[in-house]
Amino acid sequence: MANQEDIFKKVISHAKEYGYVFQSSEIYDGLSAVYDYGQNGAELKKNIREYWWKAMVQLNENIVGIDAAIFMHPTTWKASGHVDAFNDPLIDNKDSKKRYRADVLVEDHVAKIEAKIEKEIKKAAKRFGDSFDKEQFLSTNQRVLDYQAKADAILKRMGKSLENEDLTDVKALIEELEIACPLSGSKNWTDVKQFNLMFGTKLGASADTATDLYLRPETAQGIFVNFLNVQKTGRMKIPFGIAQTGKAFRNEIVARQFIFRMREFEQMEMQYFIKPGTQKEWYETWKEKRMQWHLSLGMGADNYRFHDHEKLAHYADAAADIEFRFPFGFKELEGIHSRTDFDLANHEKYSGKKLQYFDPEENKSYVPYVLETSIGLDRMFLAVFSNSLQDEELENGSTRTVLKLPAVLAPNKVAVLPLLKRDGLPEIAEKLVDELKWDFNVDYDEKDAVGRRYRRQDAAGTPFCVTIDHQTLEDDTVTIRHRDTMEQKRVKLAEVKEIIHKEVDMRYWLQKL
Ligand code: GAP
Repeated sequence: MANQEDIFKKVISHAKEYGYVFQSSEIYDGLSAVYDYGQNGAELKKNIREYWWKAMVQLNENIVGIDAAIFMHPTTWKASGHVDAFNDPLIDNKDSKKRYRADVLVEDHVAKIEAKIEKEIKKAAKRFGDSFDKEQFLSTNQRVLDYQAKADAILKRMGKSLENEDLTDVKALIEELEIACPLSGSKNWTDVKQFNLMFGTKLGASADTATDLYLRPETAQGIFVNFLNVQKTGRMKIPFGIAQTGKAFRNEIVARQFIFRMREFEQMEMQYFIKPGTQKEWYETWKEKRMQWHLSLGMGADNYRFHDHEKLAHYADAAADIEFRFPFGFKELEGIHSRTDFDLANHEKYSGKKLQYFDPEENKSYVPYVLETSIGLDRMFLAVFSNSLQDEELENGSTRTVLKLPAVLAPNKVAVLPLLKRDGLPEIAEKLVDELKWDFNVDYDEKDAVGRRYRRQDAAGTPFCVTIDHQTLEDDTVTIRHRDTMEQKRVKLAEVKEIIHKEVDMRYWLQKL
């Protein structure tokens, strides 16, 4: 069994080899935590975005979509709390000059303690064999209990210090735990400082008149400032939602893990405007609905779990993540946040404009509460891509690399392959491509033996291959091969389009919602 690191490395190299994800500006040695999507990646990303948009906007009468600008009036970010509270605690090592997130250094230290617990479990499991009871072991073994207590105490202290903005204590904790710089091994640390994650830029030509702007760190604020425009022009009645997809920017300090944490990324967010007091019920509803959306893609229920937040963001009264099993473990994929009236009320305060809804049923105006669902498109891409990449042992002892993308999301739905480059077979294949291309992205491939072409399409994630052979000349039938089962069937040429439609059409997938 390959370890997590090897699997993740394979994901990254496969994404490059098959035209999914490239490092940005690679010829200049890349730009850290910025990535480009290639010919297949752009299609997969577009399909995920469309799958989300259809589920949220097209299928919900009371949700509409907008496309707000990335640049916003700078006061937006004062009102939203991002100027004052969108910070990470940073610490520099004086010897290596490397900068770290202080909380991540502490969390990595705790992870080492947890690894010791895992080691104890493995040792005991080996010693006790079939009679090993993990639960009992965890609750009675003194060494494990001590480790666990130590880990809990560290996290509790850090949580409290961060909440109280006591950065001196965060530094004291790092020193007490004798945490060393992973690069130099030195324990010579600076003080911990808050660092704002927003990217700044300037609007205007001359330095003295230019206005300082931020690149938006979330798409949500474009929805809040347009709340009344949409409500009035769309004659929307509460409860209703506004959705949008678009780029967001964060100057992430710990930006490893490929497209999991990027400096420029895309979000798919929906703000649901509700009557104050109903937020608990909508919070549960949207948690459930969003989980159903994920499950409809068939990537396995045991790959998802909810994680309820204890430490809430500055705007929330309840929050949960939908976590996914990435190659490096369970991590946040999507957030569901009960944002109260924090944003709208603050925009009222800072803009001096009323952002209220007149409720005809209650015969009064109020600032609505908001329930938000927020998912990173790139992170969803990584979830889909990494989960789909598999090495499969075949009956003949060989292995095949196959990218089992949900067919509805695959960049190319079908590859058309003439068995030979002669006898009129390419002409029939090209005719079929011309017919199918109006409905699907189609690949045409006539190079190499057909077995090798199947393998290429498997690795690229194409769900179907259609092969034109000599029998096609006689009876207008072709072979259709299924990527996941490798099953091949002889079908009529005229039926190909319908067969593929049934498997890839968003309608059939979204009906599972
Ligand atoms: N409007 C709420 C908001 O932005 P968030 O939890 O900071 O909440 C929401 O972000 C989602 O955006 C995350 O669950 C994640 O999928 C994605 N995301 C956040 N930061 C990211 C980054 N640096 N790179 C890629 N995706 C990111």
